Amino acid sequence: MPNIVVVGTQWGDEGKGKVVDVITPHVNVVVRYQGGNNAGHTVVVGRDKYVLHSIPSGILHRGCRCVVGCGVVIDPGALIDEMESLVRRGVTLDGNLFISKNAHLIMPYHPALDRASEAKLGKRRIGTTGKGVGPAYVDKAARVGIRMVDLLNECLLREKLEVNVAQKNRILREIYDAQTFGVDEILNTYLRYAGWLAPYITDTALLLMKWIDSGYSVLFEGAQGTMLDIDHGTYPFITSSSTTAGGAATGTGVPPTRLDGVLGVSKAYTTRVGGGPFPTEMTGAVAEHIRARGNEYGATTGRPRRCGWFDAVVARYAVRINGLDTVALTKLDVLDQCETVKICTGYRYNGELLTDFPEDENVIAAAEPVYEEVSGWLAPTGGAKNEADLPAKARRYLERLEELIGAPFCLISTGAQREETILCEDSPLLRWFPSVRSSLF
Ligand code: IMP
Repeated sequence: MPNIVVVGTQWGDEGKGKVVDVITPHVNVVVRYQGGNNAGHTVVVGRDKYVLHSIPSGILHRGCRCVVGCGVVIDPGALIDEMESLVRRGVTLDGNLFISKNAHLIMPYHPALDRASEAKLGKRRIGTTGKGVGPAYVDKAARVGIRMVDLLNECLLREKLEVNVAQKNRILREIYDAQTFGVDEILNTYLRYAGWLAPYITDTALLLMKWIDSGYSVLFEGAQGTMLDIDHGTYPFITSSSTTAGGAATGTGVPPTRLDGVLGVSKAYTTRVGGGPFPTEMTGAVAEHIRARGNEYGATTGRPRRCGWFDAVVARYAVRINGLDTVALTKLDVLDQCETVKICTGYRYNGELLTDFPEDENVIAAAEPVYEEVSGWLAPTGGAKNEADLPAKARRYLERLEELIGAPFCLISTGAQREETILCEDSPLLRWFPSVRSSLF
């Protein structure tokens, strides 16, 4: 049974939650491998809307096992809130949710450091979600992090807290002039969390391999997107984890040789939240129109997202960095009323045409997009059941994108509902999950 990685190809918010939700009935396990509750994966089921932050969206499917892997950073208080709200809505967690012993914890001083550091950065501020994700990964790399398994050992937890709190309090007080923390208060709160979470904490790397060896199919649910990757994104305006496909192996303990394919998710246009370069960013009435039609407001912070045209340079880069086999294109319907639609095919920098995404942050910041304009289809795409039902100009737009990015589309999404999904002809998804055809019609 195939093990497939789903990654965002842009700056996050591509609609991965919906794509994962469509594929989940065909797999046995869904696993998150990086990021934390900075993510907001929105899934609409009938009239119900769920926004998941730390728990894989597979949890909405009865019988699907969900794993939070070792590459994720976990705010236990926020995780428990999310678990309680799912339970209130009738979702069963016991026997379905498994949390890695080795996942690092977001401690109360992490969001404080995140916000204080942002406030000091001025115009270089990243525009983080303020959830403490970056500082938690800093501690992980500095080898002073506190992990899920430490919650189960009070002595060790106190020892690690004492070292961390002393160090963080000095930074908060002396560098940022900010509020400090007490060991006992954190210890008591986190021991309470431990009582709640203990039944879910386990060796998930071992569990995943046992499941894979017994023939289970695993979906690796990426958070954020390729351009926010710590190594391959638009550094320093990125998140602090490996959002690209390689992170699926390190963030779970499943070896790369057991991964069978990678599916990228891309919006029919582009958005980004927070600071940093965004070559195809648009302003004015068209940006407002797309923001309103696409409801482009952060699922975690509510911030308005910056909107831009489809950037084929970024998409090609995502195909290369992740080794994408196929791409699911989302939110095509948002462009239904645009008279003209632009596609960025390259960047102009110092009189030179660049068709590969430049690694140098100064080049990215100064790059001018080179656009190809196509005329809009000015007709609804919403009810289409297959590609042939789409307006001819929308089909041409899709064909041109496919040609430019060098990977075939597998799904086209034209609305938030599960049913508003077109399975492409010869969809590569059918190679992995032949039963997708019957489930989508
Ligand atoms: P952090 O991950 O909170 O440190 O934020 C770093 C950058 O990543 C900021 O620009 C955030 O807006 C962005 N970011 C983090 N998580 C998401 C997400 O789930 N969707 C879109 N952008 C995100």
